[in-house]
Formats: sequence, structure tokens, C-alpha cells
Amino acid sequence: MTHTHQLSTGRTLPSIGLGTWKSDQPNETYNAVRSALKLGYRHFDCASGYGNEKEIGLAIHHAVSEGEVTRDELFITSKLWNAFHHPDDVQPALQRSLNDLQLDYIDLYLMHWPIAIKSDVGFPEKGSDFISLDDLPLNVTWQAMETLVKQGLTKDIGVSNFSVKKLRDVIAACSIPPAVNQVELHPYLQQGTLVDFCRDNSICVIAYAPLGSGDRPSSLTKLDEPSLLDHPTIQRIANKHHVTEAQVLISWHLNRGLSVIPKSSNPDRQALNLASLKVQLSEEDMADIALMDKHYRYLHGEFWVMDGSPYTLENVWDE
Ligand SMILES: NC(=O)c1ccc[n+]([C@@H]2O[C@H](COP(=O)([O-])OP(=O)(O)OC[C@H]3O[C@@H](n4cnc5c(N)ncnc54)[C@H](OP(=O)(O)O)[C@@H]3O)[C@@H](O)[C@H]2O)c1
Repeated sequence: MTHTHQLSTGRTLPSIGLGTWKSDQPNETYNAVRSALKLGYRHFDCASGYGNEKEIGLAIHHAVSEGEVTRDELFITSKLWNAFHHPDDVQPALQRSLNDLQLDYIDLYLMHWPIAIKSDVGFPEKGSDFISLDDLPLNVTWQAMETLVKQGLTKDIGVSNFSVKKLRDVIAACSIPPAVNQVELHPYLQQGTLVDFCRDNSICVIAYAPLGSGDRPSSLTKLDEPSLLDHPTIQRIANKHHVTEAQVLISWHLNRGLSVIPKSSNPDRQALNLASLKVQLSEEDMADIALMDKHYRYLHGEFWVMDGSPYTLENVWDE
């Protein structure tokens, strides 16, 4: 099983990282990062939008100063929030994350969504909170992202929630192509076309919500969501290999050659998730899981769509 991926720039990305969204109880993220580091996690998926980068910074600082790990062993990702797409806002946004994370540089900085909102808006609540991509094109923000690499503030840059169409547009105009596209990916949303396009263009795919993102706030969930962990195919394969359902789901990504960032604040589940590296799925298992695809998104994007918003589900996902 692949333990690392090589990015197009030559840098190495550990294939399993720790997700940190929704670890928002006081000290929850600090404890989650400390236990994950002790277990051997070296890749941490962070974002200013998750509101917990200060705790992550403290955990890294303590682990490094206690000699548990060195900075250069770590792969730290952060993300540019939608309110800071204006080129003048990009470098200050990364600098705030660097300050919170107590780092001089990060390994990967992603544009969190192909959505622009006004700089004084946290999460949009009305149509006038948004800025259209005609007024603030993704390529303009991307140019400012490229400057961050030249300034040494991030080693690599990438995008998140980008469609093939949006990736093509960025690639056509850029001087540094995206090293990564981080997208929702699991057996209900297998994204074959997008994964193939990224492979053909040396863009590493990082899979988010690999376990179905079950701890999302109720405002972001639907009543009739299908469960990944309870699906009979996943349960049957888990029983056959004497592993957990989550390990089957995580291993499925590794078998597809993708990176994956399950979130857990629980040390036992963190350990199990990391041990997915040792799970061997057969070709038959992979074929059975392939049949589960139903193009279902847990993060459906409806939160960007409201009266007066320039964003629709069609133009967010280009499908
Ligand atoms: N770029 C983006 O727009 C975007 C969007 C969403 C997520 N992400 C990133 O992707 C990461 C992962 O996605 P996610 O957090 O939404 O969802 P997820 O990793 O699919 O699921 C997290 C949920 O699964 C539980 N869990 C973890 N390990 C488990 C196991 N072995 N068995 C059973 N349950 C388990 C967690 O509970 P416990 O914590 O209690 O273990 C939590 O409730 C995020 O944390 C974030 O870093 C990025």
C-alpha cells in the first residue's frame, strides 16, 4: 500500500492525513493533534475556516519542542477562506494562519472553495454577501496564490471543490499549476472523471468526508442521508478481512492511489484509521465497492445558493 504520494513539485505527501474540521470543543483539536502525532500521523488538514488553527499550532509547537517530531517531518495544509479571494487579501490571510499555526511556512495552501464572498462576511446569509466569479475571477486569486510560493510562505498550492472545467481554466492561465485538488470522495461519490483528469494532469487528489462526515452540524445535514459505514457491502468486506468498516472505506482510497484525510478526535479510532495502510482489498472488493456509486454529496453546496447569490448548484459543480 502506498504510504506517500509524490506531488508534481517533487514534494512528498503522506497518503493518510488527519482531518480537523469540527474538532471545535475547547482543547479537542489540541488533544486530537497531540494523540495523532504520537500515533505517527504526519499530515494534518487544517483551514482558517475551521476556527481551530491556534490549537493545532500549540499542539505542533509542544510536540516539536518536546522532541517528538521535527517541523520538516510534518505536512501541514491550510486553506484560503472564501472571504479573502481579492489578491490584496490572500497573503494576509495566509499570514494569519501561519501566526495561528506558529509556523514560518506551510506545506500546502488550498483555495477552499471556488466561491467568493465579501471580506467582512464569515459565512454568507444573504445574496448580497457574495461576489460573483465574473467580478473576482478564480484566476486572479490564483495569481496571488502563486506569489505565496515565490515568497516561501507555502511550499505548494492547490484548490478544493474544483470541477474539471474550473481546473482547466486555472491550468490554462497559470504559471504554477495546482498540485492538489481536495474534494469530497467516497463510494457514493467516486468522481471517476475528475480523478482521471487529475491523474492525467499530475494533480494529486485528496479525499474529504471519506467516512460520510457524520458529525456535521444539523444545518448542513439532511434527514435521509445514506450511511457509508452501515452499507451491507462495506460491512461484508470488513467482516471478511476482520477489519472495521472505516478501514475498508479508507483503504479503498489508498487502493485507488488517492490521499485521504479522515477526521477523528478519538485516539483509538485515529489508530484504527491509520492502520488502514495495512488493509489489503482484493480486486473483487474494489469491483463490489465500485457498484455503490450514486453521485451523492454529503457537502451538497446548497449553502452557497440563495436569493440573489450568483452561485447555483450547476455553476458550483459544473454538472
Ligand atoms: N475542502 C473542503 O471543503 C472540506 C470539506 C469537508 C471536510 N474537509 C476535510 O476533510 C476532513 C474529513 O472530512 P469530515 O471531517 O467532514 O468527515 P469524515 O472524516 O468522513 O468523518 C468524520 C466522522 O467520522 C467519525 N469517525 C472517525 N473515525 C471513525 C471510525 N474509525 N469509525 C467510526 N467513525 C469514525 C468521527 O468521529 P470521532 O471524531 O468521534 O472519531 C466523525 O464523526 C475534515 O475534517 C476536513 O479536514 C474538507
